[in-house]
This record gives sequence, C-alpha cells and structure tokens, in this order.
Amino acid sequence: MKIFTTVAETVAYAKEQKEAGKTIGLCPTMGALHEGHMTLMRAARKACDIVIASVFVNPVQFGPNEDYDKYPRQFDADCEKLKAEGVDAVFHPSPEEMYPAGYGTYITVENGITDILCGARRPGHFRGVATVVTKLMNITRADKAFFGQKDAQQVAVVRRFVADLNLPVEVCMVPICREESGLARSSRNSYMSAEEKQAAVVLSRSLRKAKAAYEAGERSAEALKAVTRAELEGEPMAKVDYVDLYTYPALQAADTVTEPCLLAIAVYIGKTRLIDNVILG
Ligand code: PAF
Repeated sequence: MKIFTTVAETVAYAKEQKEAGKTIGLCPTMGALHEGHMTLMRAARKACDIVIASVFVNPVQFGPNEDYDKYPRQFDADCEKLKAEGVDAVFHPSPEEMYPAGYGTYITVENGITDILCGARRPGHFRGVATVVTKLMNITRADKAFFGQKDAQQVAVVRRFVADLNLPVEVCMVPICREESGLARSSRNSYMSAEEKQAAVVLSRSLRKAKAAYEAGERSAEALKAVTRAELEGEPMAKVDYVDLYTYPALQAADTVTEPCLLAIAVYIGKTRLIDNVILG
C-alpha cells in the first residue's frame, strides 16, 4: 500500500492510474478508523479498480470550541486496517499541505441545506467539508466517492455541490454500521466511558421505535419526532440536541412522510455529541 503525504505525488499516482484505464474510488476519512470505515473501503474495493483512502483531520470543518485538537489520531493503526482491506493508496497530508500560506478558496452550499440539523449547530462545518471533499476529489481524480449514511446530511451536501459544480464523481452512500448493541460506529465513541456507551444505545433504540411507528402506519412528522424524543428523554444521561425530520436527499421541511424522509437526531451523552438517523419510506 502506497502512503502519500503530498498533493503532487498523489496527483501523479492518480494520473498514472487513469492513463492505464483504471477507475478510482475515494474514501475520505479523518482517521481513527473503525469497522464503519471498513464498510466504505469494501464498497469501493468492489466498485473500483483502485481504492484511495484519505486520512486527514480537516481543521477547516471544526469550530473554535470543537474537538479538533482532541480528535483521535492513530495513523499507524489506521494503515494496518487499510492494508488488510486491500486499499491501494493512502493520502495523509499535513494541514499546511492542504491549506498552504495564501490559501483563499472555499465552497459553500447556499440553498439552505447547510443551515439545518448539524449545520445550524456547527456554523462553517459544511463549508469546511465541501472545501476539503472537493479538493480530495480533484487530487485523487476519483470516479466514485464513498460516504457513510451516519452523516446523511453530509452526503446530501456532497451530492448537492457535486451536481452544482458538475464534478465528474459518483457519490455513493454506504449504510450505517452499528455495534451489536445498536450504537452507530463513530470515532467519537472512544470519548465515552463504558457507562456512557451503554446509555448511548438509546439513540438507535429511539430510531427503531420511530421506524416501528412508521411501519405501523404513522405518517405525521410531529408524531414520529415525539416517539423518538420520548425514548431519548427516558435516558437520564442523554441530553437531546435535536430530533428533526426532512425529505431526503433534498432536505426540505415535511409535515407528513409521503416520500423518503430522514429522521435525524443529535444527542449529548455526557460531553460527547453523537448523531444517528434512519431513512423512512
Ligand atoms: O466524514 C468525515 O469523516 C469528514 O467529514 C470527511 C468527509 C472525511 C471530510 O473531512
């Protein structure tokens, strides 16, 4: 497995692969890799000739009071996992390599879909994501890029700017990967104590209850959100940030579920903010 730290060597590698007629799959990550990331690698491995993973904790998508410094970094362990999945190359740049002195270009999606859900709580977050993902797609000359459904709003934002900017990349969404308990896998789970992790199971449980209500015929957004919220509020360690429902992937407000809708939640367990979701319909 090749390990690149510069844009120039990654661009040269991608060019060589394209000239040999190979398709390239990109799996962008911030490292601290877990089984959820491996499902992205496997999807890319199946769909593309060459798999490039990026491992980069992108400073531009973190707010000033967020966990950029504390975000887990374990590049050697990450490389072992990527190698075991047959990943061809890893791009692991420094912040200065991605944003050198004089850097001045950012991508913003301005149709409202970054002002709701996590975008409302994390101003500038999706501007940082859109900017780095655009750069990664260009650097790796990706044909397909793979993202997890856990960050469903991120996938909708990526789909939007890829379409708007006519980027020649297919955006692929991979289902949420869960622990046996139901907890969605996340690098941030490592912030929690064993007791907090047990309490965090309430997120997936609340979504399962809402899904069961939907399957039993409930179509009112308010009612489905109420079912979810009631379950979350029954867990003393959980503090609800949001419970919301939008059409998916357009992310428009919906009173009734008459087309695929995203029921998304963000919940603090202690100091750790977790997100989870389910797509209904
Ligand atoms: O989902 C993530 O880990 C990040 O937002 C991404 C897509 C790697 C961009 O930094």
